[in-house]
Amino acid sequence: MTTIPKRYLVTSALPYANGLKHIGHLAGAYIPADIYVRYLKAQKRDVVYVCGSDEHGTAIPIQATKEGTTAQAIIDKYHPIMEQNFRDLGIEFDIYHRTSSPLHHETAQEFFTALNSKGDLEIKESEQYFDEEANAFLADRYIKGTCPNCGFESAYGDQCEKCGKSLSPDELINPVSTLSGKTPVKKKTKHWYLPLDKHEAFLREWILTEHAGDWRANVLGQCKSWIDGGLQPRAVTRDLDWGVKVPLPDADGKVLYVWFDAPIGYISATKQWALDNGKDWKPYWEDQDTKLVHFVGKDNIVFHCIIFPVMLKLHGNILPANVPANEFMNLEGEKMSTSRNWKLEMQDYIDDFVNKENGGTQMADALRYYLTQIAPETKDSEFTWKGFQDANNSELVSIFGNFINRSMVLMHKLCKGKVPKLHEEALGELDRNVIGEIRAVKEKVELLLEQFKFREALFEVINLARTGNQYMQKKEPWIVAKQTGEDGQPVAEAQASIDNTLHICLQLCANLGILVNPFLPFTAKKICHMLKVVDKMLEWENAGSLKLLSVGYSLRPPELLFRKIEDAEISYQVDKLHAAAEQVKNQQTEINMEENTKTETAPVKPEIVFDDFAKIDLRVGKIVAAEKVEKADKLLKLSVDLGFETRTIVSGIAMHFKPEEIVGRQVTVVVNLAPRKMRGIESNGMILLAEDASGKLHFIHPEETINPGAGVS
Ligand code: MF3
Ligand code: ZN
Repeated sequence: MTTIPKRYLVTSALPYANGLKHIGHLAGAYIPADIYVRYLKAQKRDVVYVCGSDEHGTAIPIQATKEGTTAQAIIDKYHPIMEQNFRDLGIEFDIYHRTSSPLHHETAQEFFTALNSKGDLEIKESEQYFDEEANAFLADRYIKGTCPNCGFESAYGDQCEKCGKSLSPDELINPVSTLSGKTPVKKKTKHWYLPLDKHEAFLREWILTEHAGDWRANVLGQCKSWIDGGLQPRAVTRDLDWGVKVPLPDADGKVLYVWFDAPIGYISATKQWALDNGKDWKPYWEDQDTKLVHFVGKDNIVFHCIIFPVMLKLHGNILPANVPANEFMNLEGEKMSTSRNWKLEMQDYIDDFVNKENGGTQMADALRYYLTQIAPETKDSEFTWKGFQDANNSELVSIFGNFINRSMVLMHKLCKGKVPKLHEEALGELDRNVIGEIRAVKEKVELLLEQFKFREALFEVINLARTGNQYMQKKEPWIVAKQTGEDGQPVAEAQASIDNTLHICLQLCANLGILVNPFLPFTAKKICHMLKVVDKMLEWENAGSLKLLSVGYSLRPPELLFRKIEDAEISYQVDKLHAAAEQVKNQQTEINMEENTKTETAPVKPEIVFDDFAKIDLRVGKIVAAEKVEKADKLLKLSVDLGFETRTIVSGIAMHFKPEEIVGRQVTVVVNLAPRKMRGIESNGMILLAEDASGKLHFIHPEETINPGAGVS
């Protein structure tokens, strides 16, 4: 056993206050951290859990422009909603702070000044895009242009949203300022840089050697490829008017880069927490006895493992002991995306499940359960509504809830509503095994949680409830109760068996309350209520004990811990997801059509070489069957004869063609396109179509009828 740290500081990534957050965020950085913290607190360890809104960066003013309001109004709108969303789902920070607070601005400036005055930062002049009309330097996000990689015309200066490539503004073809719509000019500007290259040796040693054994493989892998790719000095200031001002006389119009100030937000949040609670914040950031753990999503790894640690080291702070980052969680077969509206927002889940008549906190726990069960701890994972329903109905309801309910009901029926006594002399092997199992599971869960293996830990807890059910099933107290004497009461031996079974089951219920508490805190509280014990019972050291409930103690009537989720609720959610994504697509098509009518024809895409073209396998095919896809206005499911085989292809042409009209038509098909699922149907290819100025679609096909499968080149 390793030594127990003196204190812990646990952080969850500060979410941008530019919009509602979805369950991908929740699963990545918040639920695991909350589980860990609840566990540590149950262990009575000294722990502070900090988070808050990230209120700087260009994401905020850009959202303000979208919503036609100010940056301040945006953060004031989203900060409280995000805070409430977390609370509704049982994420219990010790403080949820804001980076717009004066304390944070001071803290971040002090940090910058400390590094700068020690000479840890480099100052460099460079040429950056400047908008002469708006009289402002342009942040990467404020420059749009054609992507050099895929030809998409609205790529941003930092990334192409179409092909996903990260870009620098210099790579964009035909850059345009989004402030004025004008072509920007290059202008000299001065910035402060964090010379990461100077810290390579330290990073290699600290991450790749010291932590090789205890950090997750995905985290180590990302760090290694960053370091191997060559560390560059990173600008930590920006020409922008939204953010923490650079605290120097010659830095007018400059702010700290958001990724410099945001992680310092963990420190300022700790300071605010200390002020509010009469504590000293310093040991949490300066004392080597503190274990600092950052919970983040995959896209935040380098900031927390490379950049922020270098800052912390230079500033004389402690370094993170671990950064147990998760991979991505997909949704119904696709990557979650705010821009494509393919997501489940926490707010929507809360509205549809938690705040409903038949919802409540049990539904918050149901989501916590499923998101933990499918947490992308080692590789990307997949949220499906069906999976959610199954996890709830066949595990929470049928195993966990069922065990506790059965124990309570039988105790009321066979033991007069009181905790029966344990007849030591009558204990059998089955009883002893369960008792042993309770202790063993406690230790397993503990070990797994200390190693950030939340999925496995939760599995062990549910498995213990499963063991409880099996035990009850084998002991059959309801049958044993029929062995009655002349007085109609069970004979002494039978009563001893019933008492033992229910005594053990009830102690197991109490143990399950303790063990499940970090994961499903609302459920744990309900268990305490039913068992008429105070929440103090949930302290971890009580787990494994068979003395949690005293003999003769009368318990409350049982209440159901979980409810079944109906098929209709699930199909409603699936439809809602598709409809929302469809709406965005339609808006996009409208915008594209508008743009097309303006320019008449679409501009020519960037040049490709013959080999690029030769990769595409085009064939003549014949539509042999066509039908509408259920609940999808735009889709037709086609069977296309390609000579060598007949394939299913889903095509978005239902608004243009009736199924019966197109059977027998010849079409051109891209036959080597990777298969794609649409509405649960795998589409194996794509039909070529031409769109005229009115938006009408036309098939591309040979003039005469020819054999299906013929190549097109
Ligand atoms: N706001 C960032 C995001 O959502 C995360 C910031 S984490 C912090 O990706 F460390 F900088 F605070
Ligand atoms: Zn691109």
